[in-house]
Amino acid sequence: MNKQININYEVFADGSELNEIEQELYEAAKNARSQAYAPYSDFFVGCSVLLKNGKIVTGNNQENAAFPVGTCAERVALNWASANFPNELIQKIFIVGAPKDVTKKIKAVPPCGVCRQTISEYENKQQSKIEIYFGSISGEIYKVNSIQVMLPFSFDSNFL
Ligand code: THU
Repeated sequence: MNKQININYEVFADGSELNEIEQELYEAAKNARSQAYAPYSDFFVGCSVLLKNGKIVTGNNQENAAFPVGTCAERVALNWASANFPNELIQKIFIVGAPKDVTKKIKAVPPCGVCRQTISEYENKQQSKIEIYFGSISGEIYKVNSIQVMLPFSFDSNFL
């Protein structure tokens, strides 16, 4: 028997199509990106997280000379949010990635597989969906309403 999974996502032509809070998150992610520590890849990523209490926390990628030790922007931001506001719902995250050399082609940057698993963990922890926006320093921005869209058949604590 063949089965199908269809996914829904929204595309904004650029930041001007976002509403006020989305634009605030976009700016926060771009600012975080500009402070990334990414001397090895020269690929700069920023992530902003909107909490239910209205706070916006941010993170950026933190690399290491021992390459696998580096951490993505999304996990820096989400882990920090959970460490400091463990009981606050995460409502939205906004990811912005682009090479340091921004004359290269700009594409919307989706979260890597490890970060998808991390977002999935926090959705399960809080038992509510996290809206995910991803883009670059300009151009198209994508939005999905839950990590389930990007990580179907996810592994979670229910299997343990
Ligand atoms: N990176 C992120 O921070 N988030 C992603 O979702 C994709 C990749 C970082 C990891 C590494 O520092 C650099 O981008 C190049 O892979």
